Amino acid sequence: AENSGMKNLVLTINKLQETFKRLSVHMDIDLPQIAVVGIQSCGKSSVLEKFIGRDFLPRGSGIVTRRPLILQLIYNENEYAKFDHSTQIFKDFTMIQKEIEDETERVVGKQKAVSNIPIVLKVFSPHVLNLTLIDLPGITKVPIGDQPSDIEHQIRAMILEYIEKETCLILAVTPANMDLANSEALKLAREVDSKGLRTIGVITKLDLMDQGTNAVEVLENRQFPLKRGYVGVVNRSQKDIDEKQDMKIAAEAELEFFENHPAYKHMASRMGTNYLQKILNKQLTDHILNTLPTLRDKLRKHQNELEEDFHHYESTSNIKLMNEIISQLKKEFRSELDGYGAMLTETKELTS
Ligand code: GDP
Ligand code: NA
Ligand code: MG
Repeated sequence: AENSGMKNLVLTINKLQETFKRLSVHMDIDLPQIAVVGIQSCGKSSVLEKFIGRDFLPRGSGIVTRRPLILQLIYNENEYAKFDHSTQIFKDFTMIQKEIEDETERVVGKQKAVSNIPIVLKVFSPHVLNLTLIDLPGITKVPIGDQPSDIEHQIRAMILEYIEKETCLILAVTPANMDLANSEALKLAREVDSKGLRTIGVITKLDLMDQGTNAVEVLENRQFPLKRGYVGVVNRSQKDIDEKQDMKIAAEAELEFFENHPAYKHMASRMGTNYLQKILNKQLTDHILNTLPTLRDKLRKHQNELEEDFHHYESTSNIKLMNEIISQLKKEFRSELDGYGAMLTETKELTS
């Protein structure tokens, strides 16, 4: 029951988001999203890709992700994907990777430059929960190739643009083979979320730690405690990717890694990509429920403003459009959000 309630909630939020877009209404509303943050090649794209269970994001060593990628995951019986910038329907996910690369180059060129103009991809799939994920370029310290000297600043600004929003959950990714004390991901997250209310620690590359060492202290949240704790994951290695290791096999291998590892087997049920996905959904739902009252107030205010504008524009040709917008707003927001009001009360009653 909890699951279907959550599914409906996120579906409706997605619908609101689409309405804003469809009507070209600029709404200063921050709807909940999840962004991945970390240094280059720490495994950000690999983590996101596993949520979808398909091979389709450009991955590899070096700066691969050069524009923000907004992934709108939508639960659907049939599996396909569609970019906002084109009408093409992608049924073969291996073609998506090339289109992301091409579309990146169209805007930033073949060099190693970056751009903050996002690529938006809707992924319809029976394997996903309804989430919006943002894949971001990795933090880099040293310019490479033709990168401008202020590349570190550019990328940091781009990341902050997304994660400073109060409604953005932050997946702060740190590879296990690096010292957590120097984690750029945690440093950036702390800048915008000093209390750690919306930051989740993700430790990747646990399979690459030196023999005899482990990350138990970190994963049990004792070394650098985060309010929402840490989840360890094992993604495919570059060799696995090159050999086109099946994602299902990779998921099984990840489970096995935790279940068979002497240091992690006692906590295996709280490790891995599936568990990360579960806690993300739980936190996303809590987050949405917490921000709904503010969202509703903002929407009502916006609607009132539109009604005033309506009179202002009465004599113009915009009248039809305004009319449409207002009726859409009324239809979608009133019914949906009044539903939320009831749901909130229900939730409070249930938990009090
Ligand atoms: P990003 O730059 O942060 O998006 O990182 P990518 O997802 O592109 O991964 C960079 C490289 O690290 C790729 O070659 C991946 O195969 C590899 N990689 C990522 N996560 C892991 C992991 O958990 N274990 C291993 N062995 N390799 C990983
Ligand atoms: Na990379
Ligand atoms: Mg990447």
